[in-house]
Amino acid sequence: MSFSQAIGNLTGESTLLYQEIARRVEKEKGIKTINFGIGQPDVVTFKRIREEAKKALDEGYTAYTPAKGIDELRQKIADFLSQKYGDKIKKDEVIITPGAKTALFLAFLLYINPGDEVILFDPAFYSYAEVVKLLGGKPVYVNINFDKEKGFYIDIDDLNSKITAKTKMIVLNNPHNPTGMVFEPKQIIEIQEIAKERKIILLSDEIYDYFVYEGEMRSVLQDSGWRDYVIYINGFSKTFSMTGWRLGYIVAKKEIIDKMGILAANIYTCPTSFAQKGALAAFDSFDEVREMIKLFKKRRDVMFSELSKIRGIEVYKSPGAFYMFPNMKEVVKKVGSSKELAIKLIEEAGVITIPGEVFPLNVGKNFLRFSFAIDEDKIKEGVKRIKDVIEKIVDEKS
Ligand SMILES: Cc1ncc(COP(=O)(O)O)c(C=O)c1O
Repeated sequence: MSFSQAIGNLTGESTLLYQEIARRVEKEKGIKTINFGIGQPDVVTFKRIREEAKKALDEGYTAYTPAKGIDELRQKIADFLSQKYGDKIKKDEVIITPGAKTALFLAFLLYINPGDEVILFDPAFYSYAEVVKLLGGKPVYVNINFDKEKGFYIDIDDLNSKITAKTKMIVLNNPHNPTGMVFEPKQIIEIQEIAKERKIILLSDEIYDYFVYEGEMRSVLQDSGWRDYVIYINGFSKTFSMTGWRLGYIVAKKEIIDKMGILAANIYTCPTSFAQKGALAAFDSFDEVREMIKLFKKRRDVMFSELSKIRGIEVYKSPGAFYMFPNMKEVVKKVGSSKELAIKLIEEAGVITIPGEVFPLNVGKNFLRFSFAIDEDKIKEGVKRIKDVIEKIVDEKS
């Protein structure tokens, strides 16, 4: 009984391997590992949201909801984004999904035929490429370049050169996982112009849009003509620290949302009823969100100043998300790969990071991803622990 061909070489979250090594190291060395691999805020979902969900449960709000989600929440998202971006987004242009990942899945499923090319930026959130391949599509990578002074930026010439008659979609993620970059508004506008002109769908994942510490974040919804080519993805996981609630959403023109509703009805029926009720209170929780962002900005500053003390690596102070992505080229060259380096850091320093090579395809190979969604003291301790190990490698004769 063989598995389907589609499932082929699909891979899941690779962080589990590192957790396993960390557990062994903890046991053998009797030390507590420090985890910079975390992809979620370390705070409990804000009280108001929890209370609202509890109330819904107590009132027996436990049945199926409409496939596209409850009207009040769709309306709330539409009103919120309309106000934020000066548009008139309608409830019918919003669908609630079980997490942003499902939102992404629906978008790919709706559009990708075998052989279609999908432009991804390199590095990128791992699951874009996996789902594209699952559907028989072909990921085509466009470089994100690194400059110690300017940070990470999209190579627009490379983007233009990679577009073919088969290009169906461009997947943009801003602020960006794993680099922590908030791309220059000018770059986003350029990408929007290209998508419009070449009639390519622009799938924009803006799940980290509140995690902006400096600079300006441009949303693709700021173009009043977005309905012609944009599928906008966001969610509650990061902004309101609701990763376990599984709530995301898509904004697109009504015709697209209606089709997504049909897919939803066939795949998962609807998002969880009482979780949606809780999410209604999220829009009254921005004071808490601002507090969290202030805390994360401080942690970011600490992580940057600590990492900057390590010889042989290049760090750019992330303007967004909660990741720092230092260039470890010199170190990786001596160790062999970012994976081997990450394993070495767990084994010798008790520190978990995510090797850049899990964010396909080539660019990430010289980098490690550090999440600063953890306590300031742990950030200091963790970076202190890896400093010696890294500098020892740098000093080794090649
Ligand atoms: C860029 C990006 N998009 C989407 C997701 C998935 O979010 P959700 O928890 O809403 O499925 C993540 C989670 O790490 C992410 O980093």
